Amino acid sequence: MIPLPLARIAEITSGALSGMADPRAVVRGPVVIDSRAVEPGSLFVAIKGARVDGHDYAAHAIRAGAVAVLAARPVEAPAVIVPDTAAALAELAAAQVRTLSNVTVIGVTGSAGKTSTKDLLARLTARIGATIAPQGSFNNELGHPLTVLRADLDTRFMVLELAARNIGHIKELTRIAPPQIGVVLNVGTAHLGVFGGKEAIAKAKGELVESLPRSGVAVLNADDPLVRGMATRTEARVTFYGRGESASIRAEGVVVDARGRASFTLRTPSGAAHVSLQLYGEHAVENALAAAAAGYELGLPVATIAEELSEATPRSRWRMEVTERADGVTVVNDAYNANPDSMKAAFSAFEVLGRGRRRFAVIAALRELGEEGPALNAELGRLAGGAGLAGLVVAGPDAEPVLAGAHAAAQASAAQPPAGWQGPDGAPPGAPAYHGQPGPGQPAYGQPGQGQPGHGQPGYGQPTRIVHVPDAEAAARELAAWLRPGDAVLIKGPRAMGLERTAELVLGGATQ
Ligand SMILES: Nc1ncnc2c1ncn2[C@@H]1O[C@H](COP(=O)(O)OP(=O)(O)OP(=O)(O)O)[C@@H](O)[C@H]1O
Ligand SMILES: [Mg+2]
Repeated sequence: MIPLPLARIAEITSGALSGMADPRAVVRGPVVIDSRAVEPGSLFVAIKGARVDGHDYAAHAIRAGAVAVLAARPVEAPAVIVPDTAAALAELAAAQVRTLSNVTVIGVTGSAGKTSTKDLLARLTARIGATIAPQGSFNNELGHPLTVLRADLDTRFMVLELAARNIGHIKELTRIAPPQIGVVLNVGTAHLGVFGGKEAIAKAKGELVESLPRSGVAVLNADDPLVRGMATRTEARVTFYGRGESASIRAEGVVVDARGRASFTLRTPSGAAHVSLQLYGEHAVENALAAAAAGYELGLPVATIAEELSEATPRSRWRMEVTERADGVTVVNDAYNANPDSMKAAFSAFEVLGRGRRRFAVIAALRELGEEGPALNAELGRLAGGAGLAGLVVAGPDAEPVLAGAHAAAQASAAQPPAGWQGPDGAPPGAPAYHGQPGPGQPAYGQPGQGQPGHGQPGYGQPTRIVHVPDAEAAARELAAWLRPGDAVLIKGPRAMGLERTAELVLGGATQ
């Protein structure tokens, strides 16, 4: 951050200095909300959360080197006292951005792919100048200002991820750091419950382009009708990216390799270049195009854009992280979060990646979908049950619609061996049929590898074996009983299920 004396911080936040605070003491950053992250020169912002109250850590923060605490009540430490510390943090961030006249702010929003796109775009802007981008998914009312406050006089770009939890949220984030370029990826079904419909989600996401100045650029996905429609909601110049001819930045001749990685020709108004992504899943093409379009607007040569996109590997964890276990089991860890769209994307990527092998998946019921939750979860179940998996583990609560959908689809389409498939132990497909439907009186939670007719390993020629387990650990135990060398497993669920733990256990454990 740009150093500020406490007197100035009090002025910006309309706060009062406590008796112990020296108005001339200078905060040099970082500004933090976690007392463990305090460094000498820090400002510690005390946030009262549901479980932990930051004010209890005020003295600890000062001992660790913080210059002062931004607090909502008197604490045993030098402090700037304000009515609302989160609001004061936002004001502090907004004031810093106003003094950073050399910085170009780029905002990225959408239902799926914000973090992935932000990571790609930050690679591109770093080719031009010093770039600040949030770590992981720091995209809310706290993460956003904390990220902004990391900028200093050397910073040239801020690539920010803007999440809409409701109408007005993005507007507020753009007030803190007004973007010059606004990228909108897609309007999907994430947080449908909060919004009550896709149009409302589009309304919320469109606040990004509404905030852009006349001199700015709106970068819109031409392939998503609700995003394309946002062109009328901005004063800024509009540029489209997509697969179709109408997009000025587009991907032509998309080919997906056997591992699910896409290659294509990146076409722009001033030339084309070949891109070969190392990111998994065809949906990465959309994100790459969005980043390319913003990079192009910043004046980067097409060749440079293509080079950076082709070198990119996942920067933020648990998003299509593909790991080979020593025994040849491929683990696809996409456990960071899930919504109906990203589930579809993950399953289609996994189908390519796991072609010709026994495939397994661990999923969990999606949340925050409101009234449509049960229907969308049944649809998820049908997707998973009809995906030709050898085995499906559904973890956690509210799994009934998922299980019902999965059983229905699995019955309808018994897993077929792909052409040329050979069982790892040479067993012919079509081994004794397994009936995935739990019988009456069978426990909802299966013991690993137990309670199933025949105790046989699931495999091709049988309907998908489906079990319900209580949590991430139990899912890993179930997989341990199933997995054999050469298998592939997809792990994907909503954030709250913590299925990255399943992946961790599966990667740490030896195959039985
Ligand atoms: N363009 C896309 N379309 C569909 N799914 C995508 C797309 N990009 C990424 N995904 C998938 O969506 C999930 C989340 O990706 P990412 O973290 O990039 O999105 P996000 O918008 O930042 O999510 P969040 O709102 O949780 O921060 C991952 O499982 C990823 O594989
Ligand atoms: Mg994110």
